[in-house]
Amino acid sequence: MKFTIHTYGCQMNVRDSEAVAALMRAAGHEQAAPGEDPDVAIVNSCTVRGRAENKAIGKTGNFLAEKRAGRVKAVGLMGCAVSRLGADVFKILPGLDFAAGPRRFGAIPMLAERALAGGRELLELPDPDEIPGCMDAHSPGGFRAFVTVLLGCDNRCSYCIVPDVRGHEYSRPAREVAAEVASLAANGVKEVTLLGQSVLRYGRRNPAFGPQDPPSARGFSEPFPRLLEMLQGVDGLERIRFTSGHPSGCTPELARAFRELPKACRHLHLPVQSGSDRVLREMGRGYTRAEYLSAVARLRGTDPEFAVTTDIIVGYPGETEADFEDTRTLMEEAGFDNAFVFKYSPRAGTRSAALPDDVPAAEKERRDQVLLADQDRRGLKRNSRLAGTVREVMAEGPSARNAARWSGRDSGNRIVVFEPGAAPPAPGSTVRVKIDRAAPQTLYGTLAP
Ligand code: 5AD
Ligand code: SF4
Repeated sequence: MKFTIHTYGCQMNVRDSEAVAALMRAAGHEQAAPGEDPDVAIVNSCTVRGRAENKAIGKTGNFLAEKRAGRVKAVGLMGCAVSRLGADVFKILPGLDFAAGPRRFGAIPMLAERALAGGRELLELPDPDEIPGCMDAHSPGGFRAFVTVLLGCDNRCSYCIVPDVRGHEYSRPAREVAAEVASLAANGVKEVTLLGQSVLRYGRRNPAFGPQDPPSARGFSEPFPRLLEMLQGVDGLERIRFTSGHPSGCTPELARAFRELPKACRHLHLPVQSGSDRVLREMGRGYTRAEYLSAVARLRGTDPEFAVTTDIIVGYPGETEADFEDTRTLMEEAGFDNAFVFKYSPRAGTRSAALPDDVPAAEKERRDQVLLADQDRRGLKRNSRLAGTVREVMAEGPSARNAARWSGRDSGNRIVVFEPGAAPPAPGSTVRVKIDRAAPQTLYGTLAP
């Protein structure tokens, strides 16, 4: 059969979709060409905010219309919205053939085959402790790969639906992760991004290292730095990234890992959500503004160009103008290199959903715009400091905006656009770029000898 997968949401979903595509191919199926009608259309959904879920549900509805018109034979939904909605997905989406929650993506080839054979309303919901098999299926090609190392989340932030939909934390054994990364590297992958909702909690709920594993040569005792050290030894691998972080994981040992492991990229996505201690407490984030800032300082202490990016929620229930101003000043003090701002969206079943969603939509929008404008100025200022310096850039390919130029990323995950010269570099190769000019989210330069 021919299939397509449309993905919404975070990198975790991107990774799950890639794994499903690899499993489908291994089962003898084929990805439909662009523009070609698939036999089976699959949508991988997100539910972190109401809008995100609506988009995925809307797309699935479009495929169901295609099915009624005879262009598609079966439609399936996977991912976080399936966990949230359960069997109701079949009421919301009449005609839907199958659905699988995030930890059951391994069942999709079987579900798709059964759906084509005439089965209807096939549902796979995981229990919160399920450990999925087949985590290591990858699609060949490419010089970058995502590797999921920590599933689920045991934090209970007041606003967040993720622990409900992705289940309890589970750390994959370090040896399994290392084998997967080594096999990727043997196939040309130069950069891996280790994924987990709270990736620095790796090895905390269940041990990731066993008595058979050799002790850390550098004396790391915390599991995540130890994993990084293990991956530092993988031949052919050049860069290790990971996301997302939490200040409690920004330990002296993590800082030492950044200093001692050259493959560990100088960037951490460290969602702060708010700069107001009162709001942070209400959210149950487990740190104060001061603790967050000291985590940032510790990271920047390893390298002044260390990039810290963040997520912010505006319009949390009861967020006052003073709380919002605290967020503005925190963002300035942290000197974020980039920030994603989200308008609060109540998710049924979370603690904060019981509170009145009392910041008007227009005010959420205003706060969003203010923070984005601040971040644009800050990003420009921070990037401008790099003008005149030379950055090591992993070349990706022709830039999306202007195919005559190339783009790539530096260790801090900054986008660097450069003139490729007479002989363009191979994608995935590392080049040195002299930075001539900066924009809020991009550096521009020329190849340096
Ligand atoms: N409303 C708005 N934003 C949210 N996020 C998570 N839950 C919600 C919610 N209910 C944001 C957080 C998180 C990012 C992935 O999505 O900022 O870091
Ligand atoms: Fe969306 Fe969260 Fe699921 Fe990622 S884990 S797809 S952000 S709901």
